[in-house]
Amino acid sequence: AARHRDRLYALCRDAARFYYDTLWRPENRAPQQYFIGRGLSRRTMNRFGLGYAPDSFHALMDAMTAKGYTRDELLDAGLVSRSEKGRIYDRFRNRVMFPIIDVRGNVIAFGGRVMDDSKPKYLNSPETPIFHKSRNLFALNLSKTTKNDYFILAEGYMDVIALHQAGFDSAVASLGTSLTEEQARIIARHTERIVISYDADGAGQSAAQRAIDILKRCDLQVKVLRIPGAKDPDEFIKARGAAAFRALIERSEDHNAFRIEQIAAKYDLEDDEARVLFLKDAARMLAGIESSIEREVYAGRAAKMAGVTPEAMAVEVRRELGIQR
Ligand code: CTP
Ligand code: MN
Ligand code: MN
Ligand code: MN
Ligand code: MN
Repeated sequence: AARHRDRLYALCRDAARFYYDTLWRPENRAPQQYFIGRGLSRRTMNRFGLGYAPDSFHALMDAMTAKGYTRDELLDAGLVSRSEKGRIYDRFRNRVMFPIIDVRGNVIAFGGRVMDDSKPKYLNSPETPIFHKSRNLFALNLSKTTKNDYFILAEGYMDVIALHQAGFDSAVASLGTSLTEEQARIIARHTERIVISYDADGAGQSAAQRAIDILKRCDLQVKVLRIPGAKDPDEFIKARGAAAFRALIERSEDHNAFRIEQIAAKYDLEDDEARVLFLKDAARMLAGIESSIEREVYAGRAAKMAGVTPEAMAVEVRRELGIQR
């Protein structure tokens, strides 16, 4: 079994080499231009081992079988698929390719993106004997050597790549899925502080809420960064530059402040009735904060937002604590 896994590691490495070589063939100007158009330097592309899967149902299969890999190995590595009629064909076709590399530096899987608006935008390797999505983070192999005392957690491949190119060399992504407990534990082995930098849309913001809970359970100090006027870190950096992103990191909020603002966004604080509901809602959340000092600080902030005295808020929080404990 160990030998089988080693074969799959070798196969994924050779496949990454194949996609890389294919990207730089003279006829493949379109994928080269795709990456260049997204602002990536040649150095960044090489650092991440980016590649291109040609528009063929068997190019990878042919190249890998010529190297001695079997069809079963290709299937097990998730590089080819089997049709209902039993035919085998390359999984990734006409997509720009992002190798997923584990913490020890082994290529274990791929993400592939279309170069236009067709669907699905990204196609990823399935779970395989060497790839468990929930146990890996994109770019951890690079970020683990950072000198920063914090990590940045982003959603996507391009966010992480743009962040590294801009000098933020401790950025990782949870590979599309929402963050898992295992991923949080892995992050906690490498840092004590994390800045969540998810997309600005509703999906990104609710994913941030879930990530906070999971990361706090691993005793990480969690901050949340908000991206004004752009969809995600990649687009923000492209529009505003690295220094502007650094300023966002410096201004990133403690997770409790983020939570309170998320709650406040649900209510019209100009309206008295809505304010009462906000305070009760916020009190429920505040009662869940372990540290009494933190609880008081953020209770004060919520009180200020709703225009009531800190004492009134404290009473409400104590009432909630009584209910919850
Ligand atoms: N994702 C995925 N499959 C999809 C859509 C998304 O695996 N069909 C994952 C990818 O890892 C992607 C991340 O979720 O990078 C975030 O998705 P999204 O914000 O939609 O894409 P971006 O990363 O912003 O992609 P791009 O900038 O290339 O359009
Ligand atoms: Mn397994
Ligand atoms: Mn998104
Ligand atoms: Mn994006
Ligand atoms: Mn995005």
